[in-house]
Amino acid sequence: MKTEIVSVDNLSTKELGYTQAVAFLNAGETVAFPTETVYGLGAVATNEKAVSKIFGAKGRPQDNPLIVHIAEKEELNAFTANIPKIAQVCMDAFWPGPLTIILPLKPNSLAKNVTAGLDSVGVRMPEHPVALELLRRLKQPVAAPSANRSGKPSPTKAEHVLHDLSGKIPFIVDGGATGIGLESTVLDCTSKIPTILRPGGVTKEMLEKVIGPVNESKSTDNAEAPRAPGMKYAHYAPNAPVYLIDASIQAVQDAVKSIHSNHEKVALIASEQFDGIEVDFFFSLGKENQLEDAAHLLYEALRSCDETEADLVLVPIFSKQGVGTAIMNRLEKAANGNWYKI
Ligand code: TXA
Ligand code: MG
Repeated sequence: MKTEIVSVDNLSTKELGYTQAVAFLNAGETVAFPTETVYGLGAVATNEKAVSKIFGAKGRPQDNPLIVHIAEKEELNAFTANIPKIAQVCMDAFWPGPLTIILPLKPNSLAKNVTAGLDSVGVRMPEHPVALELLRRLKQPVAAPSANRSGKPSPTKAEHVLHDLSGKIPFIVDGGATGIGLESTVLDCTSKIPTILRPGGVTKEMLEKVIGPVNESKSTDNAEAPRAPGMKYAHYAPNAPVYLIDASIQAVQDAVKSIHSNHEKVALIASEQFDGIEVDFFFSLGKENQLEDAAHLLYEALRSCDETEADLVLVPIFSKQGVGTAIMNRLEKAANGNWYKI
């Protein structure tokens, strides 16, 4: 299969991009498109065969449910039931935006493979103008996980999608680089106290201001169907092993010295204050303490390591404040919990 990529930022191809994307989706095909978090790989959420193509293209385990994307709240009536009050409040406060809300599923409404057989469904209304325009034109809910090969960092540019899925999907809507750079916060509103299953751009503090106490899921080893990505499967990982390290210049310098004495090459992914250290490859996460910049740049940096000969990747940790919680959540998974030890 040839993968076509069309820019909707370009006035001369914009209309064609949307028309073709809608046509492919209506024909039961998959289409990649930008959201404000990362690129998604979409299929019509009521079409089981189309949704199965998402799992095939990504190499995604079947027991990992997908997020359903909508443009209007009214669309929820077709596939959810008994929406909790707290979920309504969250929608009013954070939609459109990077918050996925787990709601009770209306039986026999969506394709079964969207929810991996669960009786709940994750829904979000993306804030990206391209995603919204596509959803409005299609007038149907779209199931869409991140548009990467399973296990790899999510794509923040159309070229990342092409790199991972070329020949496996028919169409990519190119809307430039995504803004936030990390996937949406996943909030389970079917539990008594709402629970964050995956931290993201909408932080615990932001949620608690609006709905009161919120739990954070600590579980990392779930034998059942995973409740959030990374709970069971490897995620966000470049080919070379990733190690976390204290955010101290001295600690990183010592580590690099030790790695070089083993005749190994090292890539460093870090804020600019680490730029002076003599590593083999350096990928900047922006200025010191700019967590939003680090979130925006992280996945591209992790991907870039695969273009180098680095034997290992070092990443100094970030403070778990605000979006730092989401950054560290992804980094701990990319590193599989490993810290660099001399
Ligand atoms: O920002 C995002 O959320 C991006 C863009 C494309 O919207 N999408 C995304 O999808 O990150 P994905 O599939 O990579 O992550 C969705 C995760 C699933 O892995 C799953 O664990 C959780 O959301 N999820 C979906 N439905 C769920 C459900 N019914 N119960 C619990 N968790 C669910
Ligand atoms: Mg993903």
